[in-house]
Amino acid sequence: MSAFICPICKAPLTKEDRLYRCENGHSFDRAKSGYVNLLTPDKMNSKTPGDGKEMVASRKAFLDKGYYAPLREKLAETARSVAPASPLYLDAGCGTGYYTKAVADALENPHILGVDISKHAVNLSAKSEKRGEFAVASVYDLPLADESADLITNVFSPMAHDEYFRVMKKGAHLIYVVPASSHLMGLKALLYENPYLNKEEDVVYDGFTQIDKIKLEFDMTLRSSEDILSLFTMTPYFWRSPKGAEEKIKNTSALRDRAEFCVLVFEK
Ligand SMILES: C[S@@+](CC[C@H](N)C(=O)[O-])C[C@H]1O[C@@H](n2cnc3c(N)ncnc32)[C@H](O)[C@@H]1O
Ligand SMILES: [Zn+2]
Repeated sequence: MSAFICPICKAPLTKEDRLYRCENGHSFDRAKSGYVNLLTPDKMNSKTPGDGKEMVASRKAFLDKGYYAPLREKLAETARSVAPASPLYLDAGCGTGYYTKAVADALENPHILGVDISKHAVNLSAKSEKRGEFAVASVYDLPLADESADLITNVFSPMAHDEYFRVMKKGAHLIYVVPASSHLMGLKALLYENPYLNKEEDVVYDGFTQIDKIKLEFDMTLRSSEDILSLFTMTPYFWRSPKGAEEKIKNTSALRDRAEFCVLVFEK
């Protein structure tokens, strides 16, 4: 049985070799890598929503070099400390699946789910974690039953707290990773004349209790202009690319920078 539900009638889905189907005759093809597209056309606000192919490829290239490995370890360790045995685990906005796999490896007998609105991202996730079920879907309209999940992780993805609340069991945990104030100041200083600090604010989400806030900071040296470009292309700065950004990066062969994250743990 799948842990996903039908996006049309909300009945449970059954996973077969080539497709998912519900008892009411709705069916959804699986891609070669195994993921399923559960994003109904009325929920798409563009033809190819979410991170594009280039952004996703850059994220994979950067993460595969291990620059954010300390965050991956901290996330896996935190997940392990709060999750029960045999949890239903969802990575909301799973991207390339880099964190999904590490968290899943740290859990005891998990049922692994990953959702992202970008099919390019979900395709890579499905390839990297064969035990999991991956779907193209929006975190604002998750293909999960009410009160079914034991653990949700969200790393730099949209915070759909009402929807997370709906799908989480009572007592379940949400681990939310956000950038802290001086995250990537080195890159910003390279790109902008007046780099700004990120806003850090404690937000209260209805129905959730924040049980931990872990600050994780570490220095890193980006070892080539290629790596700097991958990092730049996976950040929001890429969307509103400052003038001459690529040129500046191509002329920079190494960059000292500092990663600063807040790992927020909430309980329902
Ligand atoms: C900054 S990336 C983080 C990806 C991954 N968690 C990581 O850290 O490598 C944000 C991700 O959220 C996805 N995304 C954006 N809007 C979304 C939505 N409404 N529902 C699901 N995913 C969404 C993007 O496609 C992208 O993969
Ligand atoms: Zn259905």
